[in-house]
Amino acid sequence: MPPATADARPLLELGGIHKSFTGVRALSGAGLRLFPGEVHALMGQNGAGKSTLIKLLTGVHALDAGTMVLEGQPIAPRSPLEAQRIGISTVYQEVNLCPNLSVAENIFAGRYPRKAWRIDWAAMNRDAKALLARLNLDIDVSRLLSAYPVAVQQMVAIARALSVSAKVLVLDEPTSSLDEEEVQRLFAVLRRLREEGMAILFVTHFLDQVYALSDRITVLRNGEFVGEWPAQDLPEPALIAAMVGRELAARRLASAPPGEAEGSEAEFELRDVGRKGMLQPTDLALRAGEVLGLAGLLGSGRTELAQLLFGLRQPDTGALHVWGRPIRVASPAAAVRLGMAMLPEDRKTDGIVAGLSVRENIVLALQARRGMWSRLPLPEQSRLAEGFVQTLGIKTADIDTPMGQLSGGNQQKALLARWLATGPRLLILDEPTRGVDVAAKQEIMDEILRLAGEGMAVLFISSEIDEVVRVSHRIAVLRDRRKLGELPAGCTEQDIYHLIAEQA
Ligand SMILES: Nc1ncnc2c1ncn2[C@@H]1O[C@H](COP(=O)(O)OP(=O)(O)OP(=O)(O)O)[C@@H](O)[C@H]1O
Ligand SMILES: [Mg+2]
Repeated sequence: MPPATADARPLLELGGIHKSFTGVRALSGAGLRLFPGEVHALMGQNGAGKSTLIKLLTGVHALDAGTMVLEGQPIAPRSPLEAQRIGISTVYQEVNLCPNLSVAENIFAGRYPRKAWRIDWAAMNRDAKALLARLNLDIDVSRLLSAYPVAVQQMVAIARALSVSAKVLVLDEPTSSLDEEEVQRLFAVLRRLREEGMAILFVTHFLDQVYALSDRITVLRNGEFVGEWPAQDLPEPALIAAMVGRELAARRLASAPPGEAEGSEAEFELRDVGRKGMLQPTDLALRAGEVLGLAGLLGSGRTELAQLLFGLRQPDTGALHVWGRPIRVASPAAAVRLGMAMLPEDRKTDGIVAGLSVRENIVLALQARRGMWSRLPLPEQSRLAEGFVQTLGIKTADIDTPMGQLSGGNQQKALLARWLATGPRLLILDEPTRGVDVAAKQEIMDEILRLAGEGMAVLFISSEIDEVVRVSHRIAVLRDRRKLGELPAGCTEQDIYHLIAEQA
């Protein structure tokens, strides 16, 4: 535990930090103190300024005003490499490694070991292997980084931090694309680094992870410092209140109405649909006006089911029936023509066009469906975009702002808007609330229920079972790539876990 007493000196102290981008004040009076041997959670809503603070600390951006002091010395790193040289290593929200270099090259990028005038590849691979071994990872370090899943890429980023004997390790939403087991593995590594005296700063929107790991919490709101607390002194409702500036926790989501569509004919129906290695033959009915939740643990087949439904993969048994007629969905384009839309799970690589404006990003799918000869009139584009910025609370200067300038969570909301804008009859949402803050999670779920109320069929996939329970009229439970059964609205998380365990 950190010696967070009055007389203990912080390892790192940021104070009075101001940063504006053209037209946007990202930080005004933000601050942070880190002690050696602590895990510190930096919390705040989407757009609060967390990533910006981290980018100032690590030399990606220059600050407008404020002080940064490391071990009593003022610092002003001008690049991530320079920050790393003085002991601050970072795993950014967006993957910042080079997919086309090998694992070892990524770990030592900018600092290749040399023998005479040549790069010493053997030494580099050997050292990389040893570093990863400290993280319990045994992989071929000469392979391209892109050959490995995100969890491994993240460990590689941490290995890079270790290789420069960092004093401060910063992780911006490191767990947003990891499964439960990978999260546990990452946490074990972070706990060990804490014991070795490293100061770890991490950002997450999973509140349970905050309490599982962190010693202290700092909250930012609208770019301002709200407060700093020992984690045990800031229970979850108080944390949420500090983040959103009001008692949000008290307002529970109006629970989903009982399955009104129950008994009515299914609009979209999977009959016996399966594919070897992906999903055992499965029946699933999706009705207009109903949210069907898909619950299941890691590897249960949730995403695979969505992919088979949306034409990303072809089933080798069964078929999709639309209003009772079997239809082969040869491609996602065909699925879109049938009135489907899908927000995919992997959005970092699949979706955001950073250089296009928020408006252009939102109308992209709708425009694609209309074809290039029938351009959506600009006033119509603006009306749509403005509407979604309002309903989903997308924090942006205006709709002509480039998407790349939005905070991570706001980019995700805009991506959801893109699919909502197509006005689908069936909306497939794979992890729609990843990376969005607690308040926005509720807003998104409210919006999903509203759309279902207007007659849309929704397939809602989330690893957070409490969300599935809150938003679904009916829940299909998967395990080991097989549907175990269905539960009605009003069932509890426990009911779902029971069903999963019973059939183990
Ligand atoms: N390069 C940039 N140009 C213009 N505005 C920016 C830029 N980077 C960030 N901003 C703005 O600064 C504010 C803070 O963004 P930041 O990314 O720090 O938020 P965050 O707390 O990390 O949010 P999230 O939880 O969504 O990741 C936002 O309003 C964002 O749009
Ligand atoms: Mg961020």
